[in-house]
Amino acid sequence: VISPVIMCGGSGTRLWPLSRSQFPKQFLSLVNEASMLQDTLARLPESHQAPVFICNEDHRFLVAEQVKQVKCNDATILLEPQGKNTAPAVALAALNALQSNDDALLLVLAADHVIKDIDKFHKAVDVAAVLAQQGKLVTFGIVPTHAETGYGYIKKGDKHGGGQNEATYQVAQFVEKPDEDTANAYLASGEYLWNSGMFLFKASRYIEELTQFRPDILAACRSAMAKVEKDLDFIRPDRDSFLQCADESIDYAVMEKTADAVVVPLDLGWSDVGSYSALWEVCQQDAQHNVLKGDVIAHDTYNSYIHSQNKLIATLGVDNLVIIDTPDAVLVADKNKVQNVKDIVNELKRLQ
Ligand code: GDD
Ligand code: MG
Repeated sequence: VISPVIMCGGSGTRLWPLSRSQFPKQFLSLVNEASMLQDTLARLPESHQAPVFICNEDHRFLVAEQVKQVKCNDATILLEPQGKNTAPAVALAALNALQSNDDALLLVLAADHVIKDIDKFHKAVDVAAVLAQQGKLVTFGIVPTHAETGYGYIKKGDKHGGGQNEATYQVAQFVEKPDEDTANAYLASGEYLWNSGMFLFKASRYIEELTQFRPDILAACRSAMAKVEKDLDFIRPDRDSFLQCADESIDYAVMEKTADAVVVPLDLGWSDVGSYSALWEVCQQDAQHNVLKGDVIAHDTYNSYIHSQNKLIATLGVDNLVIIDTPDAVLVADKNKVQNVKDIVNELKRLQ
């Protein structure tokens, strides 16, 4: 049986001003009516235990409400006193599972992905479950479609097993967010997959790898879970212990270092909607290749993502723009430059 662990503590800064620190991207309805977190719940494989959400304490009511909205009444919500990135988040989930004497297969998922072919995703989880049961740390690698610099890359090593359609590979190398030239070379080589940020492994195997590679992170998380407080709705690891924890992603802390990583390739429509250009790509476009949301009149306008929450937006004779109107902020950007929206957010933080 699989225990889904849904990480939803990210800040989604590249989708500012739609995404805000008090209401980040995973809680927004960007692609359809449901929020990205609700979409993540909806595509869980059939036979799974109650899902576990790990989020920032500030977002506890958002998570609780969105989960209830889709009639999921058995979720566990683990609260981080402060975001320490994904390695500690997964450590809390693994320790929580082991505390209830359950060496579950943790299906670690991000709450901000779009997956088009859910059947293929489920089949890949089945393949991965067999490997995880044998003690492997499985990552899901997306067959890349372009030289994206916003993703991590996984170099395929020796074939690990499986038939023609479900070949799996040892992980030869992990490379987090390469520059454009490197990404182009990786794409051309055919030897690399995108790191989807989804994983499957036994809770105990993750703890073993942390023991070896990041005993400091494990120690902080262990003492946070030793003094955990549980109420009806939330599980609260101890604040002071958790604040001691290093800030590190699961990719750097474990996946890059473990000798037991295998990758299950996934060839399906997938995006982490990491920027407005990615959002434009996954949304339904009109004949002019525009995505228009809210009150918008677009004349002689092409290839643009225009989203109004507030005022009427009218455009004339423009191409390849991103325009976002919210009650207190407006963004106008070249669609090719939107990876850098996070620089604006950093500047705003400095000014505050
Ligand atoms: N609970 C919790 N706490 N969740 C977190 C935290 C945290 O401190 N930080 C991030 N997350 C969640 C986010 O909400 C998201 O669902 C997921 O973990 C991944 O974090 P992102 O911040 O979105 O990472 P990224 O997109 O820049 O990069 C990662 O994902 C890419 C694929 O989407 C890396 O793993 C890349 O290698 C990968 O390609
Ligand atoms: Mg992401």
